Amino acid sequence: MKNIPTIKDIKDLKGKRVILRLDFNVPIKNGKIVETMRIDRALPTVEYLIKKKARVIILSHIGKDASSSLKPIVRYLSRKIKVGFVPDFRTEEARTMVEGLSLGGVVVFENLRLDARETDNDPEFAKYLASFGDIYINDAFAVTHRAHASVVGITKYLPSYIGFLIADEVKHLSLALNPKHPFLFILGGAKFETKMPLLKKFMKRADNIFVGGILANDFIRDAGLEVGTSTVDRYKFNITSLLKKGKIILPTDVVVSDSNHKKGIVKYIDDLSHGDAIVDVGPETIRSLAPILKKAKLIVWNGPLGYYEGGFDKGTIMLLKAIIGTKATSIIGGGDTAVVVEKNGLEKDLSFVSTGGGATLDYLVDGKLPGIEAVLKCKKRK
Ligand code: 3PG
Repeated sequence: MKNIPTIKDIKDLKGKRVILRLDFNVPIKNGKIVETMRIDRALPTVEYLIKKKARVIILSHIGKDASSSLKPIVRYLSRKIKVGFVPDFRTEEARTMVEGLSLGGVVVFENLRLDARETDNDPEFAKYLASFGDIYINDAFAVTHRAHASVVGITKYLPSYIGFLIADEVKHLSLALNPKHPFLFILGGAKFETKMPLLKKFMKRADNIFVGGILANDFIRDAGLEVGTSTVDRYKFNITSLLKKGKIILPTDVVVSDSNHKKGIVKYIDDLSHGDAIVDVGPETIRSLAPILKKAKLIVWNGPLGYYEGGFDKGTIMLLKAIIGTKATSIIGGGDTAVVVEKNGLEKDLSFVSTGGGATLDYLVDGKLPGIEAVLKCKKRK
């Protein structure tokens, strides 16, 4: 693990105004949080700062733009800690609330994307955010692949560190950079374009690569087989050349849905017809992975194997349970895979579940993220 300055390196936190960047970008439905993992995993850093009597200013974004609010998250937090809320961080009220923070006091600023200068990494905006604090801590792993003002720009103005959550992510995800062998990599979900750099890297690092999800449909089609009405990515890359290297394992059976996407039936991949839509990996495929799972020392998995949002999550759950039965170190990355893990209460049985989506993918490529590099390069630390 790289020697990244962490919260533990800060000698005296008492009375210090700490800008803590977290990622509270969690799914919300009808005002209720659907999945709390990102918030829960950030709490140890918040609690540590409270215990050390720092004054804590939490920054986060939620959603893509200014249309979402952090209010539901603040309500959730207030069941665990005493916390204030600043509805608009561009007003004098923000300054007054921060100045009024008691030792161990915590305040959350509203969604940073209220201000477009956040995603532009605007230096003036970064300086403005920095003006609220004495120290900056980044513990927002899931957004650390973004060069935004509160992730990168701010490190120019304050002594900067990472928190416990990022330290934990780096500790576990870096196992995939210099892996123990045999190493099995599992890649599902969609978006070839974002996953191709990872796939290429892992062609070298992994001993076996099992491909599921929409990505597998492209491979199956390119192998000259019928995929019916299945979703395919149509990524322009000669993926069959990857297949020739012999490391890639594809599903041998799949679940296809009826036209309403309600029922699924299992078919061998060479039995598919024009009207079939692949929605999951079949049970025989998962069972056939048993010898590889048994030998593996490290398993890294990104992306679900099926259309889990539509209820086709059986293949993903079956493989997760098979992994839990092995001795391998198991690392699960990617927002969607984590959703299936959390929904089925499997987190505690796996070695590590990453809080990142895109950030996890980027980190796994070369162990670098703009937000972490910015902390490493920070000149304000003594
Ligand atoms: C995520 O959910 O992956 C992070 O919060 C980053 O969000 P973004 O893709 O909107 O920048």
